[in-house]
Amino acid sequence: MKKKEMIYEGKAKQIFKTDKNDQVIVHFKDDATAFDGQKKGQIAEKGMINNKISNFFFKLLEEKGIKTHLIEELNERDSLVKKVDIIPLEVVMRNVAAGSLAKRIGLEEGTPLKQPVIEFYYKDDDLGDPLINVSHIELLGLAGREELERLIALGHKINDILVKFLKERNVDLVDFKLEFGKTAEGEIILADEITPDTCRFWDSETKEKLDKDRFRRDLGDVEEAYHEMYKRITGQDWK
Ligand code: C5P
Repeated sequence: MKKKEMIYEGKAKQIFKTDKNDQVIVHFKDDATAFDGQKKGQIAEKGMINNKISNFFFKLLEEKGIKTHLIEELNERDSLVKKVDIIPLEVVMRNVAAGSLAKRIGLEEGTPLKQPVIEFYYKDDDLGDPLINVSHIELLGLAGREELERLIALGHKINDILVKFLKERNVDLVDFKLEFGKTAEGEIILADEITPDTCRFWDSETKEKLDKDRFRRDLGDVEEAYHEMYKRITGQDWK
């Protein structure tokens, strides 16, 4: 598959054209940002680890009947994926209070939630990706009612699969972010990534943080956390 010109550059990934109209290449970088790009840094080999972890999760979800954009891993940092129009919503699933939820509604970080909570954030850099509700989504025409119901059902199904998988590996899935896209045929599929950049992973016993919060909050041992998650997920040592 030929890698042609770059068509998009995000904080942690680049997207390249290919010789097929309906396929693009995702390239995972080591760059890390936090707090709307105010904090910048690098996490050594993160791009390679995230490429592997995301593909591992996407394959697991495909096996359970969730359609994803993944076609194949091309090399350490590149994967071939279906081209989609990204729905401009970040779908956040939460099982334990942390981060912005803990702050917003005054729950102590670490409080288990009685049931999974779903949230939508409007992907708009100028607005700072605000939390929005279902009627805002309909008002802005970001997704129709049926599409929204589908996103909600997919969010919960993906959460159930990942919570179970990770629990067996002694990891609590505290929360995570999903993005969905529409194919040319109008089908909604899972896109973007599922990695320690986009999830909160806590050791089930010690509650040690094994995700990007180590970078965001200057907790140290950032690379080690990514290596540990690679090992827990794939069962293999990172290099
Ligand atoms: O910051 P907040 O608590 O809202 O984040 C919830 C979850 O969504 C976290 O797992 C975080 O890593 C993820 N997230 C993300 N990208 C964003 C915002 C949040 O991956 N832009």
